Amino acid sequence: MAGAVPRLSDDPALCAARDALTARPLTALFDDDATRAQRYQCAGAGIDLHYAKQRVDDDAIAALVAFAARCGLHDRIRGLFHGETVNSTEGRAALHMALRATPGEVWLAQGERVDEAILTTRDRFLQFAEEVRAGRIRAADGGAFTEVVNIGIGGSDFGPRMVCAALAPMTDGPRVQFIANVDAAEREQVLAGLDPARTLVIVTSKTFRTQETMANAHSVRRWLAEALGETAVSQHFAAVSTAIEAAAEFGIADDRVFGFWDWVGGRYSLWSAVGLPIALALGRAAFEQLLAGAHAMDDHFRCAPAEHNVPVMMGLLAVWNRNLLGAQSLVVAPYAQRLQRFIGWLQQLEMESNGKGVRLDGAPVPEATTAALWGDVGTNAQHAFFQMLHQGPDTHPVDFILPIRADHDDHEQQRLLIANCLAQSAALMHGRSVAQVRSALEAQGMTPETADRAAVHRHLPGNRPSSTILLERLDAWHLGALLACYEHRTFVQSVLWGINAFDQWGVELGKRLAGNVDRALRGEQAAGLDAETDLLIQRVLNSAG
Ligand code: F6P
Repeated sequence: MAGAVPRLSDDPALCAARDALTARPLTALFDDDATRAQRYQCAGAGIDLHYAKQRVDDDAIAALVAFAARCGLHDRIRGLFHGETVNSTEGRAALHMALRATPGEVWLAQGERVDEAILTTRDRFLQFAEEVRAGRIRAADGGAFTEVVNIGIGGSDFGPRMVCAALAPMTDGPRVQFIANVDAAEREQVLAGLDPARTLVIVTSKTFRTQETMANAHSVRRWLAEALGETAVSQHFAAVSTAIEAAAEFGIADDRVFGFWDWVGGRYSLWSAVGLPIALALGRAAFEQLLAGAHAMDDHFRCAPAEHNVPVMMGLLAVWNRNLLGAQSLVVAPYAQRLQRFIGWLQQLEMESNGKGVRLDGAPVPEATTAALWGDVGTNAQHAFFQMLHQGPDTHPVDFILPIRADHDDHEQQRLLIANCLAQSAALMHGRSVAQVRSALEAQGMTPETADRAAVHRHLPGNRPSSTILLERLDAWHLGALLACYEHRTFVQSVLWGINAFDQWGVELGKRLAGNVDRALRGEQAAGLDAETDLLIQRVLNSAG
């Protein structure tokens, strides 16, 4: 029960395990247990989690697993997969796993069968994608579509944009580009050099009323109609939405509107018709591989015991670092250039899901919830913020993500990439003591006094935790498994904090106030704004002359 969720930071077994570890640095844990690296790993659906460099021992893990059991994690996972109303503030299920279903499976959302509708809709949008790719669905002038522009934001952008980038070498369809920002600079950049006659536009919005998306959609519609005439619009536009009527009102033909369901959260939606840009770029087979990898991870998550369950262990380590060790943030460092956009997707997934301060029962969460999540690809990140990770006063745990095999032939540089990834986690753990630095400097000929002064600046404290997540390669199947793994990790944390991972009420106020400010900027009355916001509005108006 939600009301019975205990506090991690008060749990006697967790606190005792944390206190016992205080005097035992990571290096000592390795020294004391020759089997540590072997034992502190688990694998599922092609994703290997190595967590021996996390500051845990057997007691900590046992206490975390016991805590999860007391929170009813097993039943909560079952409830999630059974389509129960896990999103209680919106009265909905959260059944994104059903979008990865294979024919013959039965899926219920709040007691209603949904599997047939899922398969029918999936078939419809994948068929549409194939027809466009084959040039059978044509532009108004009878030619093929060679360009696709997806207009959407948040969950209607991050997922498809990230997957298209991650699997770019497998692209064999039209070029797919994305417009999200209400800053028209992005739209201008995408449309510059685009031939409207060859361009298919997809408007992706769960609600079909998101300000940024609708502003961009109307602008792009004008751009297209001015070039090709109003009659061309219906042939050049498609929509993905749960608001079928609003899409029709926009002028999109029924057979070009692909629906999904209110039990699919925006940030969990890339597996639905929101993935249409992926299918257009990569084709049906690749999209199905993506789903299959995610489905394999779903099975692993549902069935594997906690200690062998990758998303469960990742969730447990996350709350350990956050609530017992006091980490303020999690750094995610994929050693794969093609995963650069993974971090943006993950930020929305984690922080829109778990950035909450109220429990399911309405009581305040009595401790910290999500850590701030940030990062960049290795090795670039090593030349940016890794200095802080190694020597800054705060500890920021790191998830290193490493696809082992590359899809290019430059084996030497792939080896260098891997070397850097593995070296960084080792460096974070080992650090370098003042004595080690001093003797190295003296060996280079420095006087003891100078070496002393230099060593304090050059020493690295070490004992900084990280996990290494390996996948064989960055193909559609493994990517699907990796994404589903982080989705489930997010859910695990929410269960341990007793919060609803599937609503996002915090984003509403800003949206409403933006409307108010916009009215003021247009010279209309806008009540209820504070003195500084009023002043800033005046400053902007004066600048605009
Ligand atoms: O950022 C808030 C949010 O509601 C997200 O949850 C969602 O992914 C995004 O806006 C876009 O919403 P829509 O798909 O309805 O345009």
